[in-house]
Amino acid sequence: MQILLTGGAGYIGSHTIIELDKAGHTVVVVDNLCNSKEEALRRVEKIIGKPVPFVRADVRDREAMDHIFKTYTIDAVIHFAGLKAVGESCEKPLEYYENNMNATFVLLDVMRRNGCKNIIFSSSATVYGDPAQIPITEECPKGHCTNPYGQTKSMLEEVLKDVQKADPEWNVVLLRYFNPIGAHKSGLIGENPNGIPNNLMPYITQTAIGIRKELGVFGNDYDTPDGTGVRDYIHVCDLAAGHVAALKAIEKKCGLAIYNLGTGHGYSVLDVVNAFERENGLKVPYSIKPRRPGDIATCYCNPAKAKAELGWQAQYEIGDMCRDSWNFQKNNPKGYEE
Ligand code: NAD
Ligand code: UD1
Repeated sequence: MQILLTGGAGYIGSHTIIELDKAGHTVVVVDNLCNSKEEALRRVEKIIGKPVPFVRADVRDREAMDHIFKTYTIDAVIHFAGLKAVGESCEKPLEYYENNMNATFVLLDVMRRNGCKNIIFSSSATVYGDPAQIPITEECPKGHCTNPYGQTKSMLEEVLKDVQKADPEWNVVLLRYFNPIGAHKSGLIGENPNGIPNNLMPYITQTAIGIRKELGVFGNDYDTPDGTGVRDYIHVCDLAAGHVAALKAIEKKCGLAIYNLGTGHGYSVLDVVNAFERENGLKVPYSIKPRRPGDIATCYCNPAKAKAELGWQAQYEIGDMCRDSWNFQKNNPKGYEE
């Protein structure tokens, strides 16, 4: 199939191009580069040994999007494009709602006008809020999202469900990602956050390389085995492969389908620090800080549905994730800037 990746120059999108290529699909990327660098695509080209067609445009730009659909025969869209920083979304709610909602509205309208009704949407474990049960299954009710970023994911899931309900020709796959970390084993592409990282793994790698003095561990008084927050970390290459599996569901005309993409294992902050130190033979200085507002104690999934229906299962262990995250950081001390 020919797949349009919105936001395909970003962290998850760039890794997904490689898995799509391996599976014999062709790609087109549209990205406005508001949170990524074109260099990521150059590096993907190096890895797959072929050019990656790229259109620098905003998904909210209807004419540019229409032009893409008129130029290429797009069989399905993987919609990664969106703003994703939780803290920033609380400071700039309008910008987040405007970008994430309008980009999706324009995309869906341009898709249907051009007869493409197959979409995979990047959703998030954040839609479960403080989860009703652990491990989280897809049947768990969506919860109250404490920030505008999470709200856009939750609202867009509803929009996509309604679109599919009104016109059953649509095939819509909602993928709820747990915590992607790691990088392609080449060390050429990886996570390249702007400014001070919000997420755990980039903070660890930047501490290990000396950009940050120490990691702050946000709370050690949660109801978890060691008191620190527990999450379901998944290797970004496993996550990327999950999109290829989801395309098979689209080919089988799945209608609406929802999957958790995680490993099903929970690791605490200190488990991750220990695994990182052990795997890479490094020390990560840390100190315990107060809890981060909005955080929950434990979040990990039951990934059985994706295994049963898509034949997809995560392959990588926490040690692989720590090794590959560090490999990217040490090869690219300043991200894509050098
Ligand atoms: P990312 O920021 O690296 O990639 C998103 C890409 O979208 C960026 O390249 C950015 O430039 C682009 N973009 C944003 N708005 C755009 C617009 N209006 N038009 C064109 N391009 C636009 O993020 P990522 O980590 O690769 O995440 C991809 C998707 O997965 C996002 O929707 C994110 O919310 C979702 N997600 C990410 C995580 C995570 O932890 N990384 C977890 C759950 C869900
Ligand atoms: C964050 C987002 C969530 C998003 C998810 C996926 C918040 C509040 N939530 O979730 O919406 O879907 O990423 O990427 O940002 N931690 C530290 N020190 C740090 C950073 C993190 O101790 O410097 C801890 C956190 O308290 C948490 C764990 O590490 O227990 C993971 O944090 P993080 O990587 O930010 O992911 P989430 O909070 O799960």
